[in-house]
Amino acid sequence: MIKIGVVYGGISTEHDVSEMSAKSVIENLDNEKYEIHNIYINKYGKWFEDDKQIDNLLWNLKELDVVFPVLHGKGGEDGTIQGLLEMMKIPYVGCGVLASSVGMDKVYSKIIFEKAKIPQAPYVYIKKVEEDYIIINENFEEEEFDIDKITEQLKFPIFVKPSNSGSSVGVKKATNIEELKKAIQYAGQYDTKILVEQGIDSIEVECAILDGEEVIASTVGEILPAEEFYSFDAKYNMPESKTLIPANITEEQIKEIRQLAIKAFKAIDGKGLSRVDFFVEKGTNKIYINEINTMPGFTKISMYPKLFEAVGISYSELLDRLIENAVNNK
Ligand SMILES: Nc1ncnc2c1ncn2[C@@H]1O[C@H](COP(=O)(O)OP(=O)(O)O)[C@@H](O)[C@H]1O
Ligand SMILES: [Mg+2]
Repeated sequence: MIKIGVVYGGISTEHDVSEMSAKSVIENLDNEKYEIHNIYINKYGKWFEDDKQIDNLLWNLKELDVVFPVLHGKGGEDGTIQGLLEMMKIPYVGCGVLASSVGMDKVYSKIIFEKAKIPQAPYVYIKKVEEDYIIINENFEEEEFDIDKITEQLKFPIFVKPSNSGSSVGVKKATNIEELKKAIQYAGQYDTKILVEQGIDSIEVECAILDGEEVIASTVGEILPAEEFYSFDAKYNMPESKTLIPANITEEQIKEIRQLAIKAFKAIDGKGLSRVDFFVEKGTNKIYINEINTMPGFTKISMYPKLFEAVGISYSELLDRLIENAVNNK
């Protein structure tokens, strides 16, 4: 029996999403193969095992053969829990410290994608300093904030996002200067680093990555959001949002997206798994990377497992492979 700790919940805005993912994971782990330890982190960062508060966390973790951090966002997908597990020499599913923290940070992901020459939407990086803003230019120099500098570089609609976020929390679409100012203020409530990005009139597609003997990419799925863009509500509260597998794009485009997804995964030094999201621009059919998620949603109906199911890897098999890779340090 492999003693596996499924860690979920967490301090991020995606706490509830993590709970849903972990529920599916726990239900689908083979009880004959695994001794499952149910480890919950509440919204304040307190740890529990089977509803009992853990007194000595390090001692508790040390008992485990492997950990599956089914955590999204801050404190889980950003390299911090990965660092804790590294220090304790406990194998864990998924990306390491560097890939997790780069993947979580939208600005730094973009810097790496730029280096890897993966096409992406133009952007401006701004920082909040107390109640003011500054622009961080290409040479990482601080420049005075001026909204015109942004609109000179980017065309509307413009998306404004907290650099460290997920599930579309803090993300707003602006179609004019007033909305842009408000969107920046809003994103500033979630993070001091803010990504201001040109909107791409596009369909949204996603590709899943599984890393073992070699890095493999699934087919490509399409998102049909029930709202103007794929907001938090459109993701979790609106059953009218649909997914389509495979995406309604050409074979050639699917092939290109799969290659770019593997490239992005390798560029951030990914391990284990990731879901890489893209925009396919209407009219031009140009492909742009949007982001990489190192711990994608993992419910049975989430895009990540569904993409692999579509190519013949079932949810349970996916779990087995991920855990096996972690234990064997692949
Ligand atoms: N540059 C963009 N062009 C068009 N739509 C965008 C752009 N950036 C974000 N969006 C929309 O906002 C959603 C959330 O943004 P995303 O960067 O994926 O953040 P999150 O990490 O919260 O999922 C996307 O799924 C998409 O619908
Ligand atoms: Mg996204």
